[in-house]
Amino acid sequence: MSTEDLRTAQRAADELRRHTGVDSYAAAFVMGSGWAAAADALGEVVAEVETSALPGFQPPAVTGHTGRIRSVRSGDRDLLVFLGRTHLYEAHGASAVVHGVRTAVAAGAPRIVLTNAAGSLNTELPVGSAVLIADHINFTGESPLVGPSFVDMSDTYSASLRAAAREADPGLAEGVYAAMRGPQFETPAEIRMLRMMGADLVGMSTALEAIAAREQGASVLGISLVTNFAAGLAGQPLDHREVLETGRDAAASAGSLLAGISAKL
Ligand code: 6GU
Repeated sequence: MSTEDLRTAQRAADELRRHTGVDSYAAAFVMGSGWAAAADALGEVVAEVETSALPGFQPPAVTGHTGRIRSVRSGDRDLLVFLGRTHLYEAHGASAVVHGVRTAVAAGAPRIVLTNAAGSLNTELPVGSAVLIADHINFTGESPLVGPSFVDMSDTYSASLRAAAREADPGLAEGVYAAMRGPQFETPAEIRMLRMMGADLVGMSTALEAIAAREQGASVLGISLVTNFAAGLAGQPLDHREVLETGRDAAASAGSLLAGISAKL
């Protein structure tokens, strides 16, 4: 990461601390499309800050994403919750995409939980299911890192955090997430290619944030909510409304899943 990006994240974290009075967090949660309602299950909201009040954040562009950050108290632990994220297809660049994660680490969160909405490429991962991300394939053609930052990516989605998540829900499936730049959904031929390459899930986020978190030494847990089958498996056209509706339908179970996971982290 450039020294300027680091400085901006540190300034955002300082400003966030001024609002929350909290020095460190057990974990930070990034809520993807369809996950916002699940955030309410994480604990008691102690402070809520608009990202527009902090340096480096882009205004939210996607329906279903808001630009707010919450400091949440759960038992004796503090959690940082990002309601919404910046995507690569918003064309602010990879640094903007990972600014929230860098701010979270600078704000004292050593664990980053990345949630997203994803298409399924695997008939054993049905619509409405939550799936632990075991690994990713970064097909965005981008990296948030610059210079000789040769980060090891062999345990990107922490095996121990995944084990902790499975303590909360032993039935959780795992899959490989293919990250695409978007904003268009894939063609059926692209989905066949991704399947052959070992992907189970496809989406437009998470991978760059995971890379940035690993560069800073934070542990990562990734969870996809399957909102639809990908092109060619679906039998019907894909649209963003379906993604949000599935999210709303799954909000209660996604919320208790997240609360259960957060207690085990
Ligand atoms: Cl099918 N593709 C992508 N790229 N993102 C998605 C999706 C599909 N379904 C939900 N998000």
